Amino acid sequence: MSNDIPVIAIDGPSASGKGTVAALVAGALGFHYLDSGALYRLTALAAQRSGVAWDDEAGLAELALHLDVRFGDGEIYLRNERVTDDVRTEHCGIGASKVAALPAVRTALLARQHAFRQAPGLVADGRDMGSVVFPDAMLKIFLTATAEERAQRRYKQLMEKGISANLINLLDDLRERDARDSARAVAPLKQEADAVLLDTTQLGIDDAVNFVLKNFKLANSAQVESH
Ligand code: DC
Repeated sequence: MSNDIPVIAIDGPSASGKGTVAALVAGALGFHYLDSGALYRLTALAAQRSGVAWDDEAGLAELALHLDVRFGDGEIYLRNERVTDDVRTEHCGIGASKVAALPAVRTALLARQHAFRQAPGLVADGRDMGSVVFPDAMLKIFLTATAEERAQRRYKQLMEKGISANLINLLDDLRERDARDSARAVAPLKQEADAVLLDTTQLGIDDAVNFVLKNFKLANSAQVESH
């Protein structure tokens, strides 16, 4: 039964580094990895390309349900075209945040997310992994950092890629997305009561990964003891 397959849910705001941490934890444990934000980004991108507006709930849900996507070796393909960089743009991130606020879009992407739960386990990152998609996750982490620190990281990332950016604009965009992701009626971004807080403002990636691995071991032994 897929419900017996362990899930580590890592939720948190944009640019908190949860994707990097989640992928490394998955690698260390030999688990599968779900970047759920990519599905919302892909929906926004597919909509833009097909001329569907980012507020057309029915049209977007239809697109989301039939998204022809493939993940592999760190790359993302939409209808066999490599779109790894296209989905990572700020513009696409803003679109993702908009389409993600629409309930029909979230419902359309649910089964696709559940399908990632395969042996020997899954690390899933997003906003509602622990609350809606995998409420029975063995370990739930709420990974965050201050908006200023996250804006700095995003700025550095863009500079390294040779993409020009403005720190103040990035900070404004992040705050706007945080507000939209936290205030929406369905599956808002918030720390679940049973999630462990991981604030990475002053923490490096290795420390964050080790924190998750240590908590996974603890959750594992607690589960073994209770059986
Ligand atoms: O994690 P990310 O920045 O790639 O996510 C892009 C947007 O998608 C984010 O602003 C909110 C939305 N999202 C969501 O609503 N639920 C998720 N599980 C993942 C992302």
